[in-house]
Amino acid sequence: MSIVYLNGAFIPAEKATISPLDRGFIFADGIYEVIPVYRGRLFRLDDHLQRLDQSLAGIRLKQPLNHSKWKQILLELIDKNGGGDLSVYLQITRGVASRDHFFPTNIAPTIFAMVNPLKPFPDEVLKKGIAAVCLEDIRWKYCHIKSIALLANVLLRQQALDKGAMEAILVRDGKITEGAASNVFIVTNNQLVTTPKGPFLLPGITRDVVLELAKHHGITALEAEISLPDLHAADEIWLTSSTREIVPVTTLDGSPVKSGKPGPMWEQITQHYKHYKQDIMGLIETT
Ligand code: PDD
Repeated sequence: MSIVYLNGAFIPAEKATISPLDRGFIFADGIYEVIPVYRGRLFRLDDHLQRLDQSLAGIRLKQPLNHSKWKQILLELIDKNGGGDLSVYLQITRGVASRDHFFPTNIAPTIFAMVNPLKPFPDEVLKKGIAAVCLEDIRWKYCHIKSIALLANVLLRQQALDKGAMEAILVRDGKITEGAASNVFIVTNNQLVTTPKGPFLLPGITRDVVLELAKHHGITALEAEISLPDLHAADEIWLTSSTREIVPVTTLDGSPVKSGKPGPMWEQITQHYKHYKQDIMGLIETT
């Protein structure tokens, strides 16, 4: 039975209830975060909390807790759920009020957090790589906010699945923005390229880690626009996210990406990522 955090209390998930008048339910008026946990330890927590602050500012909602309080709550939640490799999901909505678009005054935000098992793709999948399809980015213009209004992402990802792919790579005005739930990297001429941060994509924490690792290990990494032809001509394509880490795309729109196998740069960065995780989490490799 999993334990969740709701408005100050740790309770069994099935006992957690929220009013149907919550503005998260009525308007999707809220934001969220997803933080990976390795062996009970929160990965890049400060970065995730900073992004949480930015998302809250983006919807003009005051941060209800300070960072040390967040850390305390999340560690307690992890502990109550037995630790291990998890993803923490947390969500803050503007709270419960009678339905009116204007911001209500004097209401408390709804604060919720839960954990789920962290499920990276198994090695057999990573060895083959996954399929992705390009779809038009039909989302709004504030994609840098980690908004719970994810209907467009849900529809796009389902459309990808219906076409036999695991992810949709989104294209706005001929340029790649990101995946439906990931950031996009390409390798071209031995250079790593990812779309610059801006309002049309989420500033992914895994994206930052990959850029840092590339710089540290002498791999040229650029933040530059990627056109649709650039994507189709790429030597390698990767998707990054906190829950799936770095995933090679080996089929794009039904055709193989170069050899149709994960490329050498992906192998390299994946090793660096693994070591980095072990170093900063103080983990000892057991497999
Ligand atoms: N999503 N872009 C979008 C639209 C995302 O939803 C995500 C992650 C990312 C990658 O960000 P990060 O590296 O910080 O996880 C980029 C999470 C995992 C989700 O919605 O479940």
